Amino acid sequence: MKYSSAATVAVVLSQNIVSCATEPSMGASTPAPAIPMGKRISFEECLALSPQMMAASSPMIQSGWSYLKKQIASINNGDLRRLAEAVYADSTPSFARFDAAGRHEIWEALSAGGYTKQSEDALFPPIPANIKQEAPYIAGSGSSYQSHHAYPGGLVTHVASNVMITAAIVDTYINTYGYEVDRDTAVTAQLLHDLHKPYVFQWQADASSRPEQSLAGAGEHHVLSLAESLLRKAPADLVIAQACTHTYPGDAANERQIVGWLKAAAIISGVDPVQYGLLAQDGNTLPLPRKQEGSICHLGDHDYVLTYFTVQWTLPVLEKIAAADYRISQDDLRGRPFNALRNYVYSQYSAMRLEQDYATGGEEAVRKVVHALIKNV
Ligand SMILES: [Fe+2]
Ligand SMILES: [Fe+2]
Repeated sequence: MKYSSAATVAVVLSQNIVSCATEPSMGASTPAPAIPMGKRISFEECLALSPQMMAASSPMIQSGWSYLKKQIASINNGDLRRLAEAVYADSTPSFARFDAAGRHEIWEALSAGGYTKQSEDALFPPIPANIKQEAPYIAGSGSSYQSHHAYPGGLVTHVASNVMITAAIVDTYINTYGYEVDRDTAVTAQLLHDLHKPYVFQWQADASSRPEQSLAGAGEHHVLSLAESLLRKAPADLVIAQACTHTYPGDAANERQIVGWLKAAAIISGVDPVQYGLLAQDGNTLPLPRKQEGSICHLGDHDYVLTYFTVQWTLPVLEKIAAADYRISQDDLRGRPFNALRNYVYSQYSAMRLEQDYATGGEEAVRKVVHALIKNV
């Protein structure tokens, strides 16, 4: 069975499937996995759900989480496997334990290097007292709130598809050219590449996520995730591949960006980027000759070309349905009532799948999905 269209939603719901841990499979000849959507709830129940509860109730997120755990278990390199296991068990930022003097020193160095214009107090996102409960990896947003994968558990679906794509690229090069890059490095870099998104995009009281700041010319999640890998003593090749997810080094201007991200992450983590092996001896490029895993990871992190727009194209339709069928006022379309509705729909069904329904069945197809997930008044 392929992903259910809106027309088959009722059938899927009637099966009352609460959880599905089937592993998404690869290969053009393999049918798409039958991941059901979440269960039907009232609007009041939707409003009361936390992001953690939305992720826990989503067969899609649970399936993605199961896939990621299996991929971690399949990493042959023991050091990389243990690193990924540790991050997925607890992604609390290591710099949460820095004292005031250490933070001041980092802020001064980042400011002097032109990597930040933030005040010292605003350099790092706030760290909740119980971050493991409030910002667990499995409930993290995959992006800023109006971008790709912006829903509870969106990070899991983002990373799961990235890992699948990356592994498929590695296989493609084996089958086409007869050689293999370091698969463990490419897959682990992809598994870890956005590791601090749950912390950077912390869920807010109005069910939106915290706006992201810039750091070293990138969204701060990127440099903070690199710094975390360095603080956890990840191998240089892995951190370089992780840094390349945002762009590729095959262009001088792009490579200067990657070098800047690595230098900023090195400041935060207190390492010398050249001695660590992140940069060439002159500090101006990646170590030479450049390795291929980074560019492959960039290709694997690339489906924002589509995923970004699936959110942009479906949000206005959801707003229209929310106003007409759930009597959500214009004010509440900018607040928790609408945010909770859209978070639940996306976390149980994904913006990707919803947009495919919209593209093939129009607004009515979207309406059927929303009604099948949230009882309308
Ligand atoms: Fe990223
Ligand atoms: Fe990403």
